[in-house]
Order: sequence, then C-alpha cells, then structure tokens
Amino acid sequence: MHIRTAAALAGALLGMPALFLPTSAAQAADEPQRTITIAHRGASAYAPENTLAAVDAADDLGIKWVENDVQRTKDGELIVMHDTTLNRTTDVEQLFPGRAPWKIADFTLDEIKRLDAGSWFGPEFANERVPTLKEYIRRVSHNRQSLLMELKAPELYPGIESQTLRQLRRQGWLNHQHVKHRLIVQSFNATSMETVHKLRPDVKTGFLGTPSVADLPKYAEFADQINPSHKTIDEAYVAAVHAVNGAHGKPFEVFTWTVNDAPTAVKVARMGVDGIITNTPDVVRDALEDAGHAVMAGSR
Ligand code: G3P
Ligand code: CA
Repeated sequence: MHIRTAAALAGALLGMPALFLPTSAAQAADEPQRTITIAHRGASAYAPENTLAAVDAADDLGIKWVENDVQRTKDGELIVMHDTTLNRTTDVEQLFPGRAPWKIADFTLDEIKRLDAGSWFGPEFANERVPTLKEYIRRVSHNRQSLLMELKAPELYPGIESQTLRQLRRQGWLNHQHVKHRLIVQSFNATSMETVHKLRPDVKTGFLGTPSVADLPKYAEFADQINPSHKTIDEAYVAAVHAVNGAHGKPFEVFTWTVNDAPTAVKVARMGVDGIITNTPDVVRDALEDAGHAVMAGSR
C-alpha cells in the first residue's frame, strides 16, 4: 500500500482528517517529487512569445506560471521582450528601415507601440503589441497566474532592478502573498540578482546558469534557485544543488529550461528538478501528470 494511502487510512481510523497527519508521513521517501510547469515567454509554441496573447494561451491551457523577459526603452519604460533588438519578433525593419540594428534601447515606447509583434508568428496575431511590464503584470494578475520574471541583459539598463521592483510594488506584487507564492525574479547576471536581493531580501531570486558545485555557497548569499539549461544537468548535479541552502535558508530549487517534449520532461523530473520551463506547457504538464510528477494546478 502506498504510504500516503496508509497514512490517510490510519488517520481515518483515529478520527483525524488526513490534513492533520504528521508531515513525515505525507512526505515519505517513496513519494514522487512534484515538478511545476512554467510557460516559457508564455505558451510560446502557440502564440507570439512575450505577448499578452502568450500569457492568455498559457492560461487557456490551465498553466499557472509564466516566464517573461524585461528590458527598457530609450525613454525609460519597462517592456517585455526577449531579444535586445526588435527585428526578430516585430516588423521594425519595415517601419523604421534606417534604424539598424534596431536595439530596444534606441527606441521610445511610442515607437515600439507602433510595431506589430504578432504577424511574424501567424496572421491571426496581427494586432499584438509589445507589452509594457505594467500591462503584462496586469494581465497575469487578471488571470491569477504567477510570474517567473527574467531581467534580460540588465547590464544594458543601469538601475533596472530598483525600477522593476518599484513597478511590481505599485501593482501589489511585493505584498506577502505575491512574494511568498507568485513571484520569482531571475537573471543570467548574478550581480543583478545580488542587487535585487539587497533591495528586497524577501523576493525569491534565481540565477540562470550551471555554476560549479564548489561555487554554490557564493550564489546562496543572494539566490534561492539555480536554473540551468537541461542540456547541462544530471541527477548528481541536481542533488548537489539541492544539498545547499539558498538565501532564505531552504534548499536551492532547480528550474530547468527549455524542455519541449514529453520524454525529456520525464527525464529531468526524475533527476529531481523542481520546475520545467517550456514553450509547450501542455505537453510537459501532461507528461508529468502521466508520470506522477506534476504539481496540481494552483497548488504552488
Ligand atoms: O527561463 C529560462 C530561459 O528563459 C533562459 O533563456 O534565452 O530563453 O531567456 P532565454
Ligand atoms: Ca527568459
């Protein structure tokens, strides 16, 4: 008999609701660990990445966590986009042919708002715009989703950490409930995550990369997660990361990226990762459910 079933049965016999059973029984070693699914740039296999349509596509699939990338315009507005240039995911080359290499930092928000950020993906998305961070957070809030927010190339945007935290605070995302359950800030730039941690020690942060095990204590001073490419990890590495406590005194979590097929999702879940960042969140979620590794929607 499965340990949780046995524990629930014992609780029922003793007249106790299963909820009040000792945690040690509920977290027995033979329980499969739970892995959450995060929609990478939104559900970006089904809608143009980092748009509100991609947030909604994730929501339509019942996916609670979305990942995005935050950068800043020439006139100091925070927007959501992955590349540091505008040409791959908008029609900027047609609208502003003389402005190569089309860096985000060289365009005002008014100019960026004129761009079509959907047609490159499919004609049905022709009206999509590049969202501001404010618009993006509003939509995530409306959908009751959670946010894994990446500061992309923060070295290009001095002060983006405090500016982003200000925006989050204005929209109610730095209250206890959000900080505890619905927000993680991550970056490939460790200094930037150190800054976020200094400014708001209560906010959970992640370092994107695969640092050596020997270096993990350094990351533990400011980060709660180590988030590596799935191509760089194995079970031993995940266990070694879990063996170190992060900035909040709990074992480092591991969210790996970018996994878009079922067999790889199950493989990395079996390595023990805590989260899988994916363009195809339905495929990953379903594979984890079939393998008994999924977190139920809304439970984390
Ligand atoms: O969240 C992990 C992943 O987004 C990091 O890579 O290039 O897609 O931002 P990238
Ligand atoms: Ca990203």
